[in-house]
Amino acid sequence: MAGMQEVHIPLSALTAARRSPTLTSLAGPPLDAFQRPLRDLRISVTDRCNFRCGYCMPKEHFGPGYRFLPHADLLSFEEITRLARVFVGLGVRKLRLTGGEPLLRRDLPKLVAQLAALRTPEGAPLDLTLTTNGSLLAKQAQPLADAGLQRITVSLDALDDAVFRRMNDVDFPVADVLAGIAAAQAAGLGPVKVNMVVQRGVNDHEVEAMAAHFRGSGVVLRFIEFMDVGSHNGWKLDHVLPSRELVERIQRRWPLRALEASAPGETAERWAYADGAGELGFISSVSQAFCGTCNRARLSTDGRLYTCLFGHQGLPLREHLRDPANSDSDLAARIGRHWMQRSDRYSVLRLSQTEALPKVEMHFIGG
Ligand code: GTP
Ligand code: 5AD
Ligand code: SF4
Ligand code: SF4
Repeated sequence: MAGMQEVHIPLSALTAARRSPTLTSLAGPPLDAFQRPLRDLRISVTDRCNFRCGYCMPKEHFGPGYRFLPHADLLSFEEITRLARVFVGLGVRKLRLTGGEPLLRRDLPKLVAQLAALRTPEGAPLDLTLTTNGSLLAKQAQPLADAGLQRITVSLDALDDAVFRRMNDVDFPVADVLAGIAAAQAAGLGPVKVNMVVQRGVNDHEVEAMAAHFRGSGVVLRFIEFMDVGSHNGWKLDHVLPSRELVERIQRRWPLRALEASAPGETAERWAYADGAGELGFISSVSQAFCGTCNRARLSTDGRLYTCLFGHQGLPLREHLRDPANSDSDLAARIGRHWMQRSDRYSVLRLSQTEALPKVEMHFIGG
């Protein structure tokens, strides 16, 4: 594709010898088949969402007849917290609550409080954050902060009200999401990040307006390349706007300088406005795959472990968790073994893949 950058990924990370997956107990945090540690756990707390973004839950597929998970299939807050504790023992240091739309889950601050009480083996709190569409944030930002949430990421694809209403496909006004972002800042959930999925011909004309709006506000705006997640979003490579093009467009108006990564395995490439008006991020999962350092695991709403956003089979943990015969170390051994067998690198292989495999839907495992 014109303008696409060569996939750059540390080769050593992808040719590393596989470790034996046959261990029954673990001596230290597990590494996967490409020597990647497990650091980031994304927990989907509901498969429901009040938006119908075309790139995630298109109405044609997720209409009124769509059957979401029954309540009994969802992990309880106690089950999620127990699993999170086990994951921390395996190396996880960052927890992100996602959905669907996580703020639709009743009593979410209770779960946040339970997770905020977890500690690393060194006694430090975890990085505890959440991704939301912002629609219910104005009311919930303060209770979430009071419960111990540290920061928040809000998805927002356009500032123009008509474009935004069309993209969320439920006629939701942009002003309410902006009010949610302001409430999150006021509650101290910063730095607030805003994620914009850029689709050529759909909302790419909103890029400069979004940058102008958030410059100098303390919000970190991040542009995400449109991805082929799930099996229903009609993804085409032509609809992807490579980050390099976006950087050039923004540079034309406001000079930028590149920043160092703030954490290993980070999704976004960071840039700063040269005039000091803040930071921007570019998430280039199509044009510059970042699988080489991917340390993310995902827990679906019904308790399956996915080791890739594009996975098609998750490791079921719920029944294992509900069986009183299983201790936390049994769970840890099961998860650790699974991680050691992991060889996912979908984004690196995407453009050479000849056969389309079924993929998990993003609203089920979070972004
Ligand atoms: P910070 O902790 O604030 O840096 O956030 P993050 O970038 O780890 O998480 P966030 O949920 O904000 O991720 C931003 C977007 O990047 C997601 O919505 C996805 O679109 C994309 N993304 C996140 N993780 C992955 C991943 O492992 N693979 C791919 N291909 N895309 C990802
Ligand atoms: N491509 C890129 N990002 C996506 N997200 C959802 N679907 C896609 C996709 N197809 C993002 C949302 C949100 C997060 C949960 O995932 O915009 O920021
Ligand atoms: Fe809902 Fe987020 Fe998916 Fe949009 S991207 S439909 S807000 S889960
Ligand atoms: Fe990680 Fe899979 Fe995304 Fe690659 S495609 S960065 S392996 S989640």
